Amino acid sequence: MMGIRIVGLGKKLPEMCLTNDEIATMVDTSDEWIKTRTGIEKRRVSVTETTHQLATQAALEALKESGLEAEEIDLVIVATVSPDTNMPSTASLVARNIGAVKARCFDLSAACSGFIFASEVAISMMKQSHYKNVLVIGAEVLSTRLDWSDRGTCVIFGDGAGAVIYQQSTEINQIHCIEIGTDPEGAELILLPTQTEKNKFYEGEIKRPVISMNGRQVYAFSTTKVPESIKQVVDKSGLAVEEIDWFILHQANSRIMDSVARKLNVPKERFIKNIAEYGNTSAASIPMALYDARKQLKPGDKIILSGFGAGLTWGTMLLEW
Ligand code: UT7
Repeated sequence: MMGIRIVGLGKKLPEMCLTNDEIATMVDTSDEWIKTRTGIEKRRVSVTETTHQLATQAALEALKESGLEAEEIDLVIVATVSPDTNMPSTASLVARNIGAVKARCFDLSAACSGFIFASEVAISMMKQSHYKNVLVIGAEVLSTRLDWSDRGTCVIFGDGAGAVIYQQSTEINQIHCIEIGTDPEGAELILLPTQTEKNKFYEGEIKRPVISMNGRQVYAFSTTKVPESIKQVVDKSGLAVEEIDWFILHQANSRIMDSVARKLNVPKERFIKNIAEYGNTSAASIPMALYDARKQLKPGDKIILSGFGAGLTWGTMLLEW
């Protein structure tokens, strides 16, 4: 049977760090509110770095760890809702930058579930089309899509990129189960319009496209759907929730992770958190958290990765370290 293993991980952050106190000089908020309501203490903000540059640096690190040559990469998928360009794809730019001259490239838009969706697509393609080495990246520069006068969103999001290289293996299978889903009824609960939604014939006001979110409804969705999705994946894998060593959730809100831990009856110490450092980096948050977690992962550890967000989308995967 063909298995899939992870052979490389990479992460890249922009240089600039913005603290809660600094944001509190810009909008009516406080370090105390942000910390207690979200767990966020600071976030990275791109001033000059672009999405494809962050993605490229994360990819290069993953490639180095894998020991592969760039020409051996068969497929590049970038999950992002903040590409620098709609054409070409971020994935094409990354492939060009790293020298992945044989790779098929495309971007995938599933917001904060993007990394799990991209992994599902990558692994299905690896199984059906026999692509051997696949680079999946989550990369975002959300700071350029924020209304910096909206305290409901500007305190939450951050920029960054995380990369994973999946490889076919005849001996090892690290990926046990993936489940993805969408509830289109909630499609407009988190919105980010495209850059050019009006043409020159439109006579009304043209607004700068920024992220808007109904935080309370998304919170209710996340704390309901994520435990359900995790239970489903764990059940399908023939395991019990107690057998899962680590939970790496999309880093949207520390309280969401604590609520999911309570609902699953799992100690919250098993939930990996880097939200204090980086905020919510959408599609980048899961691969970045996996990267940060790996110093504490032991061979054989069972890990749940779970993303959720705009769409509304969710996705969970079980991997063995
Ligand atoms: O990544 C995709 C998935 N995203 C999520 O899963 C996000 C889910 N939602 C959340 O994490 C939370 O809803 C937020 C962190 C976005 C907001 O926290 P909340 O506890 O749900 O706050 P709220 O929106 O219910 O607002 C409570 C109060 C309001 O004031 P009033 O109306 O009670 O007087 C807000 O105006 O807090 C106020 N508020 C703030 N106050 C200080 C909202 N944002 C801020 C702020 N600083 N930054």
